[in-house]
Amino acid sequence: MRRILFVCLGNICRSPMAEGVFRAEALKRGMAHLEIDSAGTGSWHLGSPPDGRAVAAAAARGFDISGQRARQVGPEDIARFDLLLAMDEDNLATLERIAGPDARAKIRLFLDFADGSGTRNVPDPYHGGADGFDHALDLIEAGARGLGDYIASFSR
Ligand code: 4NP
Repeated sequence: MRRILFVCLGNICRSPMAEGVFRAEALKRGMAHLEIDSAGTGSWHLGSPPDGRAVAAAAARGFDISGQRARQVGPEDIARFDLLLAMDEDNLATLERIAGPDARAKIRLFLDFADGSGTRNVPDPYHGGADGFDHALDLIEAGARGLGDYIASFSR
């Protein structure tokens, strides 16, 4: 388990926040071997930095995601990454379609790793206000902790 890709729709809100939060989680746990990235299933925002609301919400919790740039997920990502984590069930279905039956085992819902979050999806905050970004970060931080525990369980 070395390469981890977070995937949402636009790659400007949820998956960049997940990348930033999990980078910090991996650093805290000394998991220097991990390669962490994010991508979107859509192509609207290619090359763009994360949404300003995502940058601000992440910064308020100590995560700097401003240097990220949006890209679209493709078949080469399915081959390259060991774990592809969808932020919601729509993204999951898209990834599974791109991957085909052989690669489905490495495609999961991110929140499957979050203990007690009570939901499977990180809701898309793009069309709402700042509170949607905060809620997304709550879920993402829970997912990042659970994912850290999961990966640590391999390295013991
Ligand atoms: P994300 O949010 O998938 O969390 O990056 C979105 C960003 C942009 C759009 C949709 C969702 N869009 O339709 O442009």
